[in-house]
Amino acid sequence: MRHLLDTRTLDRETALRILDVAEDMSDTQSREVKKLPTLRGKTVVNLFFEDSTRTRISFEAAAKRLSADVINFAAKGSSVSKGESLKDTAQTLQAMGADAVVIRHHASGAPQTLATSGWISAGVVNAGDGTHEHPTQALLDAFTIRKRFFGADSRGRDLSGLRVVVVGDVLHSRVARSNVWLLTTLGAEVTLVAPPTLVPQNISLWPVRIVYDLDEALAEGPDAVMMLRIQLERMSAAYFPTEREYSRRWGLDARRVAGLPDGSIVMHPGPMNRGLEISSEAADSPRSTVLEQVTNGVSIRMAVLYLLLAGERDDERGGDQ
Ligand code: CP
Repeated sequence: MRHLLDTRTLDRETALRILDVAEDMSDTQSREVKKLPTLRGKTVVNLFFEDSTRTRISFEAAAKRLSADVINFAAKGSSVSKGESLKDTAQTLQAMGADAVVIRHHASGAPQTLATSGWISAGVVNAGDGTHEHPTQALLDAFTIRKRFFGADSRGRDLSGLRVVVVGDVLHSRVARSNVWLLTTLGAEVTLVAPPTLVPQNISLWPVRIVYDLDEALAEGPDAVMMLRIQLERMSAAYFPTEREYSRRWGLDARRVAGLPDGSIVMHPGPMNRGLEISSEAADSPRSTVLEQVTNGVSIRMAVLYLLLAGERDDERGGDQ
């Protein structure tokens, strides 16, 4: 694997390989083998132009557990505030020896630019770009679903036969986009639920069904309900109902959770707006996988860094991912 830029172009075989390597990484962690020597001598740069808690820290934990050196860069407080460009910033970090660059950026397409411009030679991992994609989030979500439904025997399995409902601010959600591509590549049936004003215009090109009524979608008994964060910071151009109306019509509360079939799970990528898209009762219920998702994020990011820096590189075979 040369870069990980999106899940839209990630093929089934590569996606399953990442999930299976993440299972191996998860096994080592559960055996309390906290550190593997695999990436000793490699340097991973976390290049974050947007805020993050889970993604940045779990990439750092993943790199350290593989014995890589880690450089953390946050745009706030850096020379970006003096106008330094993405190219000059990335080349400065490459000059300090970066083998992999994990980038989060407010501009959709920034990781693609970094990977294809020839500015740097390091492998690039997209840690969330604008409203485009967040591929490692979708991989950890798929990993969590597979582990919950197929347990210890899940290696090599896809998600065929499972039904996932994704609810909320689809318009602004890179998590939704990455999950739609990955979950459907892995054979899951995906239904999106959103207010009509928070649905992208090109939705007819997505391999999903769209339903506007949450109770109608939940009545079908999905295996997983994935709630999306309402991105109030990106809402300027879109009509948003009042928060009270939104949580009444599209929020997951204790009553809706109680109506789900036995065994179905409640997911959220975090950070959560408790009381808006999800109530505390739903977020903290036994069905919730919110913290499992965070734990699994470290295993997925270990797998991605391993495949990027120690696994067979696709440039040796002529591919991008
Ligand atoms: N899920 C997610 O990307 O969280 P952070 O913004 O905290 O990284």
